Amino acid sequence: MDKIKLEGIGKKIAVVSGKGGTGKSTFSALLALSLAAKGKKVGLLDIDVHGPNIPLLLGIEGKKMGIGENKKLLPVEAAPNLKVVSTSFMLEKEQALIWRGPIKSNFIRQLAEQTDWGELDFLIVDTPPGTGDEIITLTQLIDLTGTIIVGTPQAAAVYDVRKSIDAMRSTKVKILGLVENMSYVVCPKCGEIIDLFGKGEIKKLAEKEKIGFFGGMPLDPKLRKMTDVGKIELKSIEKEITDLLTKIIKSIE
Ligand SMILES: Nc1ncnc2c1ncn2[C@@H]1O[C@H](COP(=O)(O)OP(=O)(O)O)[C@@H](O)[C@H]1O
Ligand SMILES: [Mg+2]
Repeated sequence: MDKIKLEGIGKKIAVVSGKGGTGKSTFSALLALSLAAKGKKVGLLDIDVHGPNIPLLLGIEGKKMGIGENKKLLPVEAAPNLKVVSTSFMLEKEQALIWRGPIKSNFIRQLAEQTDWGELDFLIVDTPPGTGDEIITLTQLIDLTGTIIVGTPQAAAVYDVRKSIDAMRSTKVKILGLVENMSYVVCPKCGEIIDLFGKGEIKKLAEKEKIGFFGGMPLDPKLRKMTDVGKIELKSIEKEITDLLTKIIKSIE
């Protein structure tokens, strides 16, 4: 498969994980918003055909992409400096998707190829869970700078992170580092830290596999509420999360 020439786009980073619900989309949205808030020009490409959540998280659900003068698709502006393309903009609501691999691959190719992103410093790609067609297609289509793998610390999720590591290694795409989401929750009454799903499991895995570990994100009830209504305010989320994002941005810049 020929790689798509994405001219004028700087770093291209895919966010992946073996499992659904580990917070890939949330993390992708947070990373994209943080980069945009720092003045970077950011594109966020959501290639989850079966459960595209980015528009919901960013409060731009139901929007449609325009067509530019060059007949290319125009991304939806989600915030200053942040342009979004999602499979959901192309699909009718609740359209049943029982697509087979090749159709999905073509769809993703079209989205990536026929979008007029303009100049971007970063393109963040939010992927569906697992190690299936979409991710393999993505690595074949786009010359990725690297991937960030998001996992949660319970054993079954760690197992899936390992599968993602293997899949990424087989594609030769660089793994920039692992992020442990839902590492803990802070009791709102007494401030005690509760390790909901285990402690430090993703970090241990990173060490074992000799991959970078960026850090953990606590489960933040405020963040959950914000994502539910599609209005993420970076200044109102847990400091550990914004600190982690700053650290990751420093490392990928
Ligand atoms: N650190 C977190 N704190 C609070 N809620 C979170 C956190 N990470 C994810 N969530 C919530 O969990 C839900 C599932 O996350 P999502 O990003 O959609 O997972 P994935 O894309 O991996 O399937 C989101 O709707 C979000 O509200
Ligand atoms: Mg998702």
